[in-house]
Amino acid sequence: PAPLKVALLGCGVVGTEVAHRLVTHADELAARVGAPLEIVGIAVRDAASPREGVTGTSLEPLLTTDASALVRGADVVVEVMGGIEPARTLILQAIEAGASVVTANKALLASDGPTLYKAADAAGVDLYFEAAVAGAIPIVRPVRESLAGDQVQRVLGIVNGTTNYVLDRMATDGLELEQAVKEAQALGYAEADPTADVEGYDAAAKAAILASLAFHTRVSLDDVAREGITGVTAADVAWAQRTGHAIKLLAIAERNVRDDVAGIQVRVHPALVPLEHPLAGVRGAFNAVFVEAEAAGELMFYGRGAGGAPTSSAVLGDLVSVARHRVLGGRGPVESSYADLPVLPAEAA
Ligand code: NDP
Ligand code: HSE
Repeated sequence: PAPLKVALLGCGVVGTEVAHRLVTHADELAARVGAPLEIVGIAVRDAASPREGVTGTSLEPLLTTDASALVRGADVVVEVMGGIEPARTLILQAIEAGASVVTANKALLASDGPTLYKAADAAGVDLYFEAAVAGAIPIVRPVRESLAGDQVQRVLGIVNGTTNYVLDRMATDGLELEQAVKEAQALGYAEADPTADVEGYDAAAKAAILASLAFHTRVSLDDVAREGITGVTAADVAWAQRTGHAIKLLAIAERNVRDDVAGIQVRVHPALVPLEHPLAGVRGAFNAVFVEAEAAGELMFYGRGAGGAPTSSAVLGDLVSVARHRVLGGRGPVESSYADLPVLPAEAA
């Protein structure tokens, strides 16, 4: 079969890892897809700057600053550039041109997901985004597909690797927040602007995405009550430890507990977690998510929530799925119908 043309938008922490694995595991991936996956270009802001693992390799000639041209003619567009624009316009261009899309962009999905879902539905193409929530952990697919026949009551957990790493370093080594954030940036966990992590916006975006999927409704970033960890000091963390707790940034999405109000509540805030609770043992940049559903009961998902390699696993899993659909025909799950559903009232936390 003819190779599938893959356009990669972004060659940073995640994009570089995705590109490497597409090259080093080309044969295995081709066998799984039923056709070779050919990178036709890698969009960046600055194609001339030296890049570790790219400059001097077969990837270097693929770098381009013309993302728009790259998107045209691709079978699959993998968006790992981040930010709202130009990512949004490029994804819409890709969808309108009939390409399947894989994205890790939680900020975009949480702010304008329904527009993308509707466009993908109208064009009949896949839009996959496993990497947008909790890095390597398969959580989007279980909530989007496996639990689609159940009634989810609550999704709760740690969904930001940077803040968990920072709080962990503050607890174990007494580091101040700023120093621990610098380490998280160096390790490739943080967003381009780490304010998104420490102020809770990244966790809120993930909470909005999970809530939309879990409760079959529209939840956007603005619906999420949010407090980050910038107010947490090393002294707070030490005090929490002395009283038998860990401070964790939790994301919580739940159906209203009051029977007289139909709706959901979605919030992100630091919380004191008793040391004996499994969430207190989530270390470094790991994430953990509990899902409670009427028939399934309680489910727990755990793994690496940030970083180039873990995130590339989720991106490549999506890429294999959407590529297989192109080879064999068919399409994955769709959310466009959510865009037309009434929004469940979100109660202020
Ligand atoms: P980086 O900042 O490391 O990389 C971004 C890449 O996109 C860079 O190569 C950059 O080009 C390119 N880029 C950015 N803006 C543009 C533009 N306007 N035109 C062309 N290229 C552009 O980000 P990450 O790899 O860390 O993250 C990428 C995405 O993945 C984000 O949406 C992020 O939220 C998400 N994500 C990240 C995770 C992580 O652990 N890092 C985990 C899960 C999701 P240049 O190199 O020239 O600057
Ligand atoms: N900055 C994010 C985090 C990347 O730390 O969790 C993974 O989504």
